[in-house]
Amino acid sequence: MIDGKNIRLGPLKKEYIPHYVKWFNDPSMVQYLGMIRPMTLENEEQWYENAIKNQNAVHFSILLIDEDKKHLIGNCSVRIDWRNKLGHLGITIGEKEYWGKGYGTGAIQLLLNYCFQTLNMHKVELQVYDFNTRAIKSYKKLEFKEEGILRKSHYVNGKYADIIEMGLLKDEWKCIQ
Ligand SMILES: CC(C)(COP(=O)(O)OP(=O)(O)OC[C@H]1O[C@@H](n2cnc3c(N)ncnc32)[C@H](O)[C@@H]1OP(=O)(O)O)[C@@H](O)C(=O)NCCC(=O)NCCS
Repeated sequence: MIDGKNIRLGPLKKEYIPHYVKWFNDPSMVQYLGMIRPMTLENEEQWYENAIKNQNAVHFSILLIDEDKKHLIGNCSVRIDWRNKLGHLGITIGEKEYWGKGYGTGAIQLLLNYCFQTLNMHKVELQVYDFNTRAIKSYKKLEFKEEGILRKSHYVNGKYADIIEMGLLKDEWKCIQ
């Protein structure tokens, strides 16, 4: 478990699977994630079984801590390229009423601390669609740099979007505990 001020990164849990089905069947969510197929309970159960066994990725549940209570608001992960010490970051605040309240940025900060201080990554990378302004703001606030643009590379909502590649080197990262 990794604790921040009001956010905790904890393990994935089987009991959370129905939440994943809800999140990843919502068009307003999946437009940012590139998913196009309906997700069944069986798909998510299979995803969960693979995720907890995968030695080249670490997945976390994002929990909001409110006094003594905690509840699930999303997932985040890092896929690991061990040779190059590169992490590829992914995040979903699945409960939409918690968007834009700073929790995503808080969770990414905890995940970056884990990448750099526990996994000894040298760099963390990610990709984001150009219309995902909320995510881009959050990444820039954490000092991610724009490294490249894959022009009109992703078809979504009836048009092509650019894919922005961003990266953060360990030297550029500001550890916030
Ligand atoms: C992207 C995501 C993780 C960001 O987490 P979040 O908790 O919503 O974001 P935060 O509140 O930490 O930060 C968002 C920033 O965007 C701003 N913002 C909020 N709503 C916004 C909107 N509708 N448009 C543009 N900016 C917005 C916030 O003000 C904040 O910036 P500020 O701190 O300078 O004020 C979350 O929105 C999410 O999971 N979205 C759906 C899935 C997704 O896009 N995943 C990432 C794929 S690359």
